[in-house]
Amino acid sequence: EKGLHDLFLAAGKSYFGTATETTNLPDPLYQSILSSGEFGQITPENSQKWESLQPTSSTFTFAAADQIVSLATQNNQILRCHTLVWHSQLPSFVKTTAWTPSSLTALLKSHISNVMGHYKGKCTHWDVVNEALNEDGSFRPSIFLEVLGPGYIPLSFQFAAQADPEAKLYYNDFNLEISPPKAAGAVKIVKLVQDAKQKIDGVGFQGHLTVGQLPPLANLTATLRQYTELGVEVAFTELDIAHPTLPSTEQGREQQGVDYVTVTKACLAVEKCVGITVWQFTDRYSWVEGTFPGTGEACLFTRDYERKSAYFALKKFL
Ligand code: XIL
Repeated sequence: EKGLHDLFLAAGKSYFGTATETTNLPDPLYQSILSSGEFGQITPENSQKWESLQPTSSTFTFAAADQIVSLATQNNQILRCHTLVWHSQLPSFVKTTAWTPSSLTALLKSHISNVMGHYKGKCTHWDVVNEALNEDGSFRPSIFLEVLGPGYIPLSFQFAAQADPEAKLYYNDFNLEISPPKAAGAVKIVKLVQDAKQKIDGVGFQGHLTVGQLPPLANLTATLRQYTELGVEVAFTELDIAHPTLPSTEQGREQQGVDYVTVTKACLAVEKCVGITVWQFTDRYSWVEGTFPGTGEACLFTRDYERKSAYFALKKFL
């Protein structure tokens, strides 16, 4: 029987993948599903974030993320890499140093070139800039915006293209699916990078969604097309669809299946939507319960590794 990834390939897409982390790997049941062929792509959930890779200005720590890279190689999985420039999970030295525009530019260049240089040839996609927008589409405050203005965005893409010319370079954000002003902000970002004559290849839709609260399929598809019309590809990069209250109901679990299928239909309807990555495949390791207490059960597998209605709905649709 074909796994989700093979079904995605048969539907003309490049991958169906999942986030994973080194701390999950000692769990044998988890490992076996991760490596079973269901997932043809992986993204490190945390180990390539700035605080993990460059905790102090003079130290780079690649060991944990390197394990994910080896796993991808072993399993013949595509590696999406995440993430270079983000206001969150930033080490304190980046937040507290009294940067000048030129010293912060030098830091950005050094972080991006060291990290992308280390993973050159391994990462097919990089989330270069993550979550640079507020919900109203304005630029989200960060040390980068404060010191460099919005120009830090094209600058980051410039350094990324220099460091690994082969990697697909993405802008990645959440709620683009459900917030038109934020989606318009991301259009502005794509144009900002293109107008600066820098390379941007894609927009990542994180896809942290809530059961029963998705936009209609036609709207979701139209939102994806706003970007593909600008010449970039799109992908769902961190999909999970959480029940708004727990425990979930039978009806909620059915709706979750409908919602996973809606996202999949939207991606299939848009030629330049290249793939879908779920943000962990089991509730056992999902970030949702810990981050948004009272909500959850957002994944395709239960915490005990049983396939859910949503998994079977997806399988059936594909
Ligand atoms: C989350 C991880 O899943 C958690 O383990 C961590 O504690 C916080 O970050 N947007 C992103 C991801 O781009 O990196 C976030 O991942 C979820 C939201």
